Amino acid sequence: MKLEGACALVTGAPKRVGREIALELARAGANVAITFRSSQADADHTVDELRSLGVEAVAIQLDLRDRGSIAGAIRELEAGMGPIDVLVNNASYFEPTPFPTEDHGGWYATFEVVLHGPYHLANLLAPGMLDRGRGSIVNIVDLSAWHPWPDRGAHSVAKSALLALTRQLAVELAPSVTVNAVAAGPTVPAQSFDEAQIERLARRTLAGRWGEVADVAAAVRFLAGSTSVTGDCITVDGGERWGHVRERFGD
Ligand SMILES: NC(=O)c1ccc[n+]([C@@H]2O[C@H](COP(=O)([O-])OP(=O)(O)OC[C@H]3O[C@@H](n4cnc5c(N)ncnc54)[C@H](OP(=O)(O)O)[C@@H]3O)[C@@H](O)[C@H]2O)c1
Repeated sequence: MKLEGACALVTGAPKRVGREIALELARAGANVAITFRSSQADADHTVDELRSLGVEAVAIQLDLRDRGSIAGAIRELEAGMGPIDVLVNNASYFEPTPFPTEDHGGWYATFEVVLHGPYHLANLLAPGMLDRGRGSIVNIVDLSAWHPWPDRGAHSVAKSALLALTRQLAVELAPSVTVNAVAAGPTVPAQSFDEAQIERLARRTLAGRWGEVADVAAAVRFLAGSTSVTGDCITVDGGERWGHVRERFGD
């Protein structure tokens, strides 16, 4: 699918990985809408950067936990920018959710942001994409889609479900709309990570270092524009999923 002149929506993109994805799609010529929840100043700055690339850009506030607000936000966005051809579900809620627990708030919040938000956004945008005979959806996951992560149960289970949703929607929306995922490895450290954690995660990859955010963005750009890849996932993890093999043999 031609990205030039297309309209893309990237959720949770005021900064970090989402910002880079938005900029990469703009470099491909797409007009880009980004959503933010709390980082308005970063979102405004990113919009300025996007516009400086010669495309239309806008930022809207959207809290995916507020399910009732999603349809209105999309209507407003499409009224201003035109129909959305590319949806990138990037927003994330990466809080610990220890188990067992008496506080289930983190579990539900994670699912709203990581799974139900993408489901509702896809459901709202798919009819237009199908009518126009073109569209692509890219969901951002990570290795927790395949492996449980201690203390991050909600995140792992929600990302696994997001990967399953990717395949399901690829089947439902074929042939005119493609649905894929990008599984990132360690790319931009969470603010809560200390130096030891950052170093340990780097050592666990075959590359021996944190990944380049530009590589994640390039994978998204490829999938967003591809008409022949659907229901699949590109892993951009510096070989993190094979790091255990090297550890096992004492290298
Ligand atoms: N960073 C990495 O190394 C890494 C590794 C593997 C996979 N990933 C995946 O790549 C994606 C981006 O990673 P990241 O580290 O850049 O993500 P992040 O900083 O954890 O979150 C991205 C954005 O999500 C938004 N967000 C949080 N709660 C929200 C809510 N309730 N409703 C709507 N938006 C909400 C936040 O917007 P505000 O700032 O405006 O509140 C935040 O800027 C995520 O899907 C993540 O799982 C990242």
